[in-house]
Amino acid sequence: MERTLSIIKPDGVKKNIVGEVISRFEKAGLKVVALKMTELSTACAEGFYEVHKERPFFGSLTEFMTSGPIVPMILEGDDAIKKVRDLMGATNPADAAEGTIRKDFADSIEANIVHGSDAPETAAFETAYFFGKETECAGS
Ligand code: CMP
Repeated sequence: MERTLSIIKPDGVKKNIVGEVISRFEKAGLKVVALKMTELSTACAEGFYEVHKERPFFGSLTEFMTSGPIVPMILEGDDAIKKVRDLMGATNPADAAEGTIRKDFADSIEANIVHGSDAPETAAFETAYFFGKETECAGS
C-alpha cells in the first residue's frame, strides 16, 4: 500500500470535472482517504512548489494555483504514485497519451488540471503539507 497526494487545480474545479477526475482514480483501484476544497495563499503556493522557485514559470504557476479553489486529496493503493501519474499523463497535454486526464481536459502545460506526487519522498512532504496536523498550509 502506498499513499500519494493529488490536487485538482483551479482549472479542474472551474471546468466542473472534480467528480470526473476522482472517478478515474477510484475506477483504477485507488481509495480517497482524505479530501478537501481549499484556496492557497501565495506563500503556501510558493512553499508547495519550492523546488521550482528558480524556474522562469514560477511566478505564473503560483499565480495560477492561487486563482481559485483547489481540491487536494490523499489517494491510497498499490503503486499509487505511479498509478496517479499514469492516469494524469504527461505534464504538457500536447505530449500526454490518449485517454489520460491531461490529454482529455488540459489547456496548457501550466493549466494542466491535476497534480500528482512524483516520488515517495515528495508524497510524504506533499501529503503532510495539506493534511498534516500542525503544518501552516494544512488549515483546520
Ligand atoms: P505539476 O505536476 O503540478 O508540477 C509543476 C507544475 O508546474 C506543473 O504541473 C505545471 O502546472 C507547471 N509547469 C511545468 N512546466 C512548466 C512550463 N514549462 N511552463 C509553465 N508551467 C509549467
